[in-house]
Amino acid sequence: MARLRGTSILFAALLMIQTAFVIVMYSRNGTSSRPPDERPGKVHILIVSSWRSGSSFLGQLFSQHPDVFYLMEPAWHAWVAMHQSSAKVLHMAVRDLIRSVFLCDMSVFDAYMHKKRNVSDLFQWAVSRALCSAPACDSFQRTEISNEMTCKTLCGKYPFDRIEQTCKTYSHIVLKEVRFFDLKVLYPLLKDPSLNLKIIHLVRDPRAVVKSREQAVKALMRDNGIVLNKNGTRVDDSKYEVMREICRSHIQIYETATQKTPPFLKGRYMMMRYEDLVRDPAIEISAMYDFAQLKPTKKLESWLYNITHGQGAGKKREAFKITSRDAVNVSQAWRNALPFEKIKKVQEVCKGAMALLGYLDVESEKEQKDLSYEVVLPRRQYQFSWSTIKERKVK
Ligand SMILES: *[C@@H]1O[C@H](CO)[C@@H](O)[C@H](O)[C@H]1NC(C)=O
Ligand SMILES: *[C@@H]1O[C@H](CO)[C@@H](O)[C@H](O)[C@H]1NC(C)=O
Ligand SMILES: *[C@@H]1O[C@H](CO)[C@@H](O)[C@H](O)[C@H]1NC(C)=O
Ligand SMILES: *[C@@H]1O[C@H](CO)[C@@H](O)[C@H](O)[C@H]1NC(C)=O
Ligand SMILES: *[C@@H]1O[C@H](CO)[C@@H](O)[C@H](O)[C@H]1NC(C)=O
Repeated sequence: MARLRGTSILFAALLMIQTAFVIVMYSRNGTSSRPPDERPGKVHILIVSSWRSGSSFLGQLFSQHPDVFYLMEPAWHAWVAMHQSSAKVLHMAVRDLIRSVFLCDMSVFDAYMHKKRNVSDLFQWAVSRALCSAPACDSFQRTEISNEMTCKTLCGKYPFDRIEQTCKTYSHIVLKEVRFFDLKVLYPLLKDPSLNLKIIHLVRDPRAVVKSREQAVKALMRDNGIVLNKNGTRVDDSKYEVMREICRSHIQIYETATQKTPPFLKGRYMMMRYEDLVRDPAIEISAMYDFAQLKPTKKLESWLYNITHGQGAGKKREAFKITSRDAVNVSQAWRNALPFEKIKKVQEVCKGAMALLGYLDVESEKEQKDLSYEVVLPRRQYQFSWSTIKERKVK
C-alpha cells in the first residue's frame, strides 16, 4: 500500500514536471497553441462599416494615435480595378488585400497600381497620420496631430515603398472598410495565427445614413453598381436597394457575432453605434481604446477633448472637426430634412436592422418632427441583450 502510494506520488510529481515543461514551452513559443487573446505581437483592428456612417470620424480617433498605422479604405483599389464585378465576388480579393496590408506587405497593390508610384497614389493616404509623419514623411513627428491639408502639400511625393517601411514600425494596424457584407468572409483572418484581428462594427441610424447619402449621390454611384452587381454601370439608389443590402449585412454581422459567436470571435468583436459615440465620446472612445489595447497619450487626450468640445481648428467639412453637441444635432438632422414618405420607406427596408440595433420607428410626421420623441434607444435600456457590452467588460 505504502509502496503503491510512493509510486503514485512519484508519478504525480513527474506528471507535474512534464506539464510545467509543456506549459513553459508553449508559453514561450507556438502562436497557434495560445489562447487567441495571448497572441503575441501586433494588434490588427478592422473597422467594418458602411458608407456615410461616421467611419471617417471613427478612423481619425485611431489614426491620430502615435502607435497606430491607419489606412482608410485600402480595398477601394480592388473595387475600382474590378468594378464590373460584384461585392460578393470581390469579397475574397478585398479580404486578401486586407490581410497583406495588416502584415505590412504592400506588394499586394502591384495588382491594382502602376509599378512606379508615390505615397500620394494610395487612396486617401493623407488622412493617415502615419503617412504624414516619420518615417513616411520627414516633415512631421509621429507624436504630432496631423492635418490632411498640410500633409498633402508636404508628404505625397515620397516613394511608395515608404508605406511598407512605415507600417513595420507600428504595433497597431487599423484599417477601415465599407466593403464587407458578411462576417463569415473574415473567419479565415480571425483564425490566422499570424494575425491578432479584432473587429469594430460601426452602425448608424439608416434614416440618417439615407439623408447623408443624398448629399453624395454621384460619389456613391459606382459603388452602388458593385453592391447591386450591375456589370460596371453606375446606379443611384433611389429605390433603396443598396440600403436594403447594407441593413441586411448589419443584421448578418451583428447576429453572427453576438448570437452564434464562434470560439475564435470571442472578445474580438465590438459593435458601436454612431449615435452613442457622438453622445458620449469620452466613454465610447475609452471603451474602444481598451478593446484595441491602446492607451491615449497626453497630447491625444487634449486633441480628443478639443474635437469633442468644438475647439478643433480647421474646416467644417471634416466630420471629426464637429463638436459632439453639433454631432448629436447632426445625427437628428434627417428628422427635419427628409419627407415622411421617404422615412417610411427606409423604415420598411431596414426594419430588421433597426429593431436589432435599437432604432425606433416614427409612425407619423408629427412624431418625426417632435425632437423630444427619442428614436435611439439608450444603450443601457437593452444592455441585457447586448453581449458585446458583456464582452467589453470581460475583455
Ligand atoms: C521559438 O520559435 C522560433 C522560430 O519559430 C525559434 O527561433 C526560437 O528559438 C523558439 N524558441 C523556443 C524557446 O523554443
Ligand atoms: C513621384 O514623385 C517624384 C518627385 O519626388 C516625381 O518626380 C514623380 O513624377 C512622382 N511619380 C508619380 C508616379 O507621381
Ligand atoms: C458587361 O459589360 C460589358 C461591356 O462593358 C459587356 O461586354 C458584357 O457583355 C456585359 N456582361 C453582361 C453579363 O451583361
Ligand atoms: C486644444 O485646444 C487648446 C486651446 O485651444 C490648445 O491650446 C491645445 O494645443 C489643443 N490641443 C491639441 C492637441 O490640439
Ligand atoms: C440643436 O438643435 C436644436 C433644435 O434644432 C437647436 O435649438 C440647438 O441650438 C442646436 N444646438 C446646437 C449646439 O447646434
